Amino acid sequence: MEIIIQPDAEAATEVATTIVARLLREKPDAVLGLATGSTPLLLYRALVRMKLDWRKVKTFNLDEYVGLPPAHEQSYHHFMWENLFRHVNISRKNIHLPDGMSRNIPKFCAEYEALICAAGGIDLQVLGIGTDGHIGFNEPTSSLASRTRIKTLTRQTHEDNGRFFGSADKVPHHVITMGLGSIMEARLCLLLAFGLKKARAIAATVEGPVASINPASILQMHPDVRICLDRAAASKLKRADYYHRVYDNKPDWQQYQN
Ligand code: GLP
Repeated sequence: MEIIIQPDAEAATEVATTIVARLLREKPDAVLGLATGSTPLLLYRALVRMKLDWRKVKTFNLDEYVGLPPAHEQSYHHFMWENLFRHVNISRKNIHLPDGMSRNIPKFCAEYEALICAAGGIDLQVLGIGTDGHIGFNEPTSSLASRTRIKTLTRQTHEDNGRFFGSADKVPHHVITMGLGSIMEARLCLLLAFGLKKARAIAATVEGPVASINPASILQMHPDVRICLDRAAASKLKRADYYHRVYDNKPDWQQYQN
């Protein structure tokens, strides 16, 4: 795990943007796994400003609410179109999101996995993290080997996401999410977390045991994870000094510059 601690969300996003932009330049037909929520917004804005070529890029989103049509303001379809897709030259046929309106969810999930496989797998998976340690919508106690499937949200996530819906009782109970096993197959995982609210989950992810009670901790088993944090999200890390030391002494060829 590479832990990149920056003074604020803007600086942490700059590093993440460099990582994504470099991939898109080196591999114009890259396959991106994408996340929603407030955390990746700065990243998407920065990528839009860079006017990269998205014509051959394929995308797979992590998750979607069950029962929300794509046009619903709080659907992740809507989020992605508003915040990224409509601002770049991506081809519509290359965009994939779980279908929250699917009438046969298990079949849909199996097909989604097959599509990722047919695309050659995910090159880079963007991730945020929930205050309870979820990635995608893999809530605590999710199987560490799980695949794309339906999940029920925890009360905590219901409350956390209530802010987008006006109140927690409007948040759907069910979601479709790529599994932890699916996420672990991405060649690179790029996790972003900002703010004090995420500090506990980040400390458990980086320095706690690998355990399904903190789903993001499975990333300790992944060979290439980069975690971009602001100071607040990093504030409960016991070995922050070491992470700074690693970052400050990187050989030239490992540095993140555009
Ligand atoms: C949501 C999403 C996750 C996201 C997380 C954090 O429920 N399903 O993919 O990473 O919760 O959201 P935010 O970035 O708004 O804090």
